[in-house]
Amino acid sequence: MAGDAGMLQALAETPLSVAMREGAWLYPIVEIVHIAGFAVLVGSVVLFDLRVLGWARTLPVAALGNHLLRWALASVLLVLPAGLLLFSAHPVELANNPAFILKLVLIALAGLNALAFHMLPYRSVAGWDRDHAAPPLARCGAALSILLWLGVISCGRLLAYL
Ligand code: HEM
Repeated sequence: MAGDAGMLQALAETPLSVAMREGAWLYPIVEIVHIAGFAVLVGSVVLFDLRVLGWARTLPVAALGNHLLRWALASVLLVLPAGLLLFSAHPVELANNPAFILKLVLIALAGLNALAFHMLPYRSVAGWDRDHAAPPLARCGAALSILLWLGVISCGRLLAYL
């Protein structure tokens, strides 16, 4: 859309966006923050998902979830601002990059999947906290979560090539 293109072009001309493109260190530093953040985010989510799928059944799911999901949420405070800053360096190109659009769609789906997990099967976690198989719906959500986050990482990496 013409209006959107104008807004993206205006963003590309802001001093911050120019600094992100032209500074020697700013872009790589922000990218490192982005990577450190999503390493914690995806790492903690996937380890939780593996527990739900049946690995390490002696570990209580609720306590593990309490610990890991707290860090997953905290890491979003690094990932999101850093991602927006990276985006601001090349907004026009990225908005037209299919990998970027797919990445945003997959992030939204991963978020919705996590929400559905908490609102549905996780409510009954007391019944399968230790030494029990998680219900099929919980296991499906965990498997889907791993696939979606792998998709987000793949799209993120592909941004540089498309
Ligand atoms: C939420 C979880 C996210 C994950 C797992 C993720 C993953 C990645 C990965 C794997 C890369 C490639 C890093 C590299 O090649 O060195 C990347 C880069 C990038 N991400 Fe994200 N990202 C996330 C969120 C976001 C968000 C919310 C935005 C923006 C709205 C964003 C924008 C970008 C941009 C612009 C790049 C730079 C690509 C480049 O320099 O080639 N990311 N991300």
